Amino acid sequence: MAPSTDAPAPLAGRRIVLGVTGGIAAYKSVEIMRRLQDLGAHVSPILTESATKMIGVKTFEALASEPPKTSLYSDSHPSPHTYLGQNADLILVAPATARILSDLRTGRSDDLLSATLLATEAPVVVAPAMHTEMWNHPATTENVSVLRSRGVTVVGPAVGRLAGGDEGPGRLSEPETIVVAVVQRLASDADLAGLKVLISAGGTREALDPVRYLGNRSTGKQGHALAEAAAARGAEVVLITASPLASHSGIGRINVVSAAEMATAVKAEAATSDIVIMAAAVADFRPVSVAEKKLKKADGTPQITLERTEDILAALGQSKRSGQVLVGFAAETNDVSANAKAKLEKKNADLIVANDVSAPGVGFGHETNAVTIHAADGSQTQVALSEKSQIAHAVLDAALARLGSST
Ligand SMILES: Cc1cc2nc3c(=O)[nH]c(=O)nc-3n(C[C@H](O)[C@H](O)[C@H](O)COP(=O)(O)O)c2cc1C
Repeated sequence: MAPSTDAPAPLAGRRIVLGVTGGIAAYKSVEIMRRLQDLGAHVSPILTESATKMIGVKTFEALASEPPKTSLYSDSHPSPHTYLGQNADLILVAPATARILSDLRTGRSDDLLSATLLATEAPVVVAPAMHTEMWNHPATTENVSVLRSRGVTVVGPAVGRLAGGDEGPGRLSEPETIVVAVVQRLASDADLAGLKVLISAGGTREALDPVRYLGNRSTGKQGHALAEAAAARGAEVVLITASPLASHSGIGRINVVSAAEMATAVKAEAATSDIVIMAAAVADFRPVSVAEKKLKKADGTPQITLERTEDILAALGQSKRSGQVLVGFAAETNDVSANAKAKLEKKNADLIVANDVSAPGVGFGHETNAVTIHAADGSQTQVALSEKSQIAHAVLDAALARLGSST
């Protein structure tokens, strides 16, 4: 049950929006996308209308991590102009036309890409490509200088052959150069680098017979989002999961089924972890005995006697070493706050992430969640209904803030 020993891919778990604008070099954006994906990134492309005249949308449909977006109005998401930017770890525009540089400088947002660029707090990398005259125009020079001063990373352009047989500055930098710039920009945001983060995810299953089990409604989405977010922030991540959801090879993954398997795997990894986040929905009870053969109707209604499973969070709380941060989740349907506070104390946890799973859009199976993070020092942080990846970052922020100070 040792975790995968694959070296973490430098972009594992990173969500990158790739903006493609209408220059001849747009065809090179496919190579850039593939390289980002090879390094572990999830790439969401946005093509401008002009870009779709230079390169086929179908190519991105076949190769991107998710369907490419081309318009503000073709997406069923209620907030198409903001959600991509809000959930991105980085936005790369390659190639970047003179037009998008100008719009980004002035804050104009009349298409999906410019709106996304305005609605993000993620780092932005642009790789301009245009004819030398356009690049050297005082308007472009000024736009680029302002963007640099605001923290935008500008890669290139290179000097070389341009469309139409011209030569000079304005050629899109090589895909490898652009990808290295992305990796470097993200590495400077890696605040969990050097830390080991242990995360449990999914709902455990307790066998009744060879075909039936007692389970719960957890899908593992929140735990997997935590693993991705921690990996994206540079942590060494061990994900112990009872969920079939995929995870990137840069995340050390251990698959488990039952509460007992979860307990064994978690306890083996916890001692060497800096942050331990128990997001899994672990069964509290299991059948005392598991039928060897399938239970048959003809044998009458079975009487199932249950026994308690091990309380993993409590065990981790008892063995917690000084400085380690222990985070538990509390999925409640009533008295959410009181139950969370009681759990915090009883389990010797540093943080309890409480959610009211009876509220709309919250908890099991949803793409979104809304939580209150209760800390042992009595403080509370509320995170309103948002994508599970955003909840994940808020939990990691809270855990990081307590690292080294927990007892
Ligand atoms: C064949 C062709 C090639 C072009 N190449 C570039 C280019 O490399 N860089 C650039 O800034 N504009 C270039 N343009 C002009 C842009 O396509 C035009 O400014 C467009 O409005 C940009 O739209 P977008 O930024 O929304 O993609 C080119 C236009 C055509 C027709």
